[in-house]
Amino acid sequence: MIVCVCNRISDREIVRHVRAGLGFDDIQLELGVATQCGRCEGCAREVVEQCSRMHPVAALHSAITPTNAAAMS
Ligand code: FES
Repeated sequence: MIVCVCNRISDREIVRHVRAGLGFDDIQLELGVATQCGRCEGCAREVVEQCSRMHPVAALHSAITPTNAAAMS
């Protein structure tokens, strides 16, 4: 299913990036989702959230940013 019509980005592409450990902001930068009209943002965030729940390790990985990684060590 196409999530972002403006950039022709599918839910499969978003899921693939979540499984690689990327969060919404990273995916937005990488794919350009929700960077034009913005109507897809809610749906795209929902896809990221649902996939993160199914793949908690990927979500944990994406939650570790350089800032909080330093605090964890
Ligand atoms: S549909 Fe995604 S930015 Fe327009």
